[in-house]
Amino acid sequence: MTDKLIIFDTTLRDGEQSPGASMTRDEKLRIARQLERLKVDVIEAGFAASSNGDFEAVKAIAAAVKDSVICSLARANDRDIGRAADALEGANAGRIHTFIATSALHMEMKLRMTPDEVFEQSKRSVRYARNRVADVEFSPEDGYRSDPDFLCRVLEAVINEGATTINIPDTVGYAVPELYGNFIKNLRERIPNSDKAIWSVHCHNDLGMAVANSLAGVQIGGARQVECTINGLGERAGNCSLEEVVMAVRTRRDYFKLDVGVDISQIVPASKMVSQTTGFLIQPNKAVVGANAFAHASGIHQDGVLKARDTYEIMRAEDVGWSANKIVLGKLSGRNAFKQRLIELGISLESEADINTAFAKFKELADRKSEIFDEDILSLVNADGFSSGADMFSLVSLAQHSETGEQPEATVVFQAEGVEKAATSSGNGPVDASLKAIESHVKSGAEMMLYSVNAITSGSTESQGEVTVRLQHSGRVVNGVGADPDIVVASAKAYLSALSKLYGTADRVAAQG
Ligand code: KIV
Ligand code: ZN
Repeated sequence: MTDKLIIFDTTLRDGEQSPGASMTRDEKLRIARQLERLKVDVIEAGFAASSNGDFEAVKAIAAAVKDSVICSLARANDRDIGRAADALEGANAGRIHTFIATSALHMEMKLRMTPDEVFEQSKRSVRYARNRVADVEFSPEDGYRSDPDFLCRVLEAVINEGATTINIPDTVGYAVPELYGNFIKNLRERIPNSDKAIWSVHCHNDLGMAVANSLAGVQIGGARQVECTINGLGERAGNCSLEEVVMAVRTRRDYFKLDVGVDISQIVPASKMVSQTTGFLIQPNKAVVGANAFAHASGIHQDGVLKARDTYEIMRAEDVGWSANKIVLGKLSGRNAFKQRLIELGISLESEADINTAFAKFKELADRKSEIFDEDILSLVNADGFSSGADMFSLVSLAQHSETGEQPEATVVFQAEGVEKAATSSGNGPVDASLKAIESHVKSGAEMMLYSVNAITSGSTESQGEVTVRLQHSGRVVNGVGADPDIVVASAKAYLSALSKLYGTADRVAAQG
């Protein structure tokens, strides 16, 4: 006898709260389409009241994605809940997720509210949300560190007001599996109307136990919804990782006895898309989606796997989408094949002109690189942004000279708000010279917090280099990603892309402000 585990993906909300992971509306839309292909049950698309950009992103996702429930976060007040409800109006199935802190520490130090005030506000907010939508989730923030007696009082009241899902966040990643599981079990046993709601787990990974805690909340506590993110993306050490929790429940179905509706063949494409969009690289030994997750290096293991796969493999790489990582297109591929691949990758270009621009860039790349992988196409979209509107800054050309014993020099020609600029500089290396050339003109004054280069298509030196640049200025942190077979060019593209975001209007307000 099995029952269903609801997969609630919060990559686009809690994941996006990670410094530097903020995404544009179009980037979020593309990931949401991939999450729909992955068949997650609920997509938390954003926090509509936090900024106009996030409101528009939730609205666009609600209009475009029809097979998953679309959710918006909202603080427990009328304005936030109203904004969430407005953004969700076009959804097939919309959910409002409202939250307020319930731990003594948060109530006293952050909210400066008494427990009675929090109790009243919780009830009022759920009642208000239920007037707008039928599906309302309530989270007592810092729930795991809250007094269980107070929590019982609040949760019983919000269920009476119509909350359909009760989520127990371990906001600071303090829980350990057995204690967290029992915490939820006790709440469910003590609250008389607990059977009127679905119980949910939401764990952060500060002690590396988010997946274990979530599974204990399911197995011991009886929760039937897990909140998670692709690649475990999220603030600090991140959230519970979707791919790990899903594959644990699938692979150990004998133990968990639960069904998950996720199409696991879409896991690796989703992981790559999120990594390339945010610039957050995946460690090679990351479970399920790391490049080495299925690589057997030792002779004994290789021998065993060749004789019988299950000697050393508990999952099959191709089942989670590694086989989708195939050569799909090349120099001789036509426009239709290219267009079809864009659709399969969840990239929707708005006009024929956009497709033509994308196809021209693809051909340009195919001239320099014989095999074009899915990652190349995704990075082409991310790096050149042709599907997300014109960037404020974009690269036109780059020339650089470096020679042993000489100081490298670079001249970069780029567009700044449609006007062509040229700048020359020297530097420690060709990358340094190129970025200094751009900076000498733009004068952003931004501090570089991260510069990383990654070969995005496996194998040879023909691979494209993908560069991530993270800049910080006046409290804002942005990521720029650029890809090119020439890593100096990729670096300049990444830097210009980060500058575009820095000067762009798409601002975000932290969800827990
Ligand atoms: O970690 C947390 O407490 C949250 C809530 C808003 C659910 O993300
Ligand atoms: Zn969280």
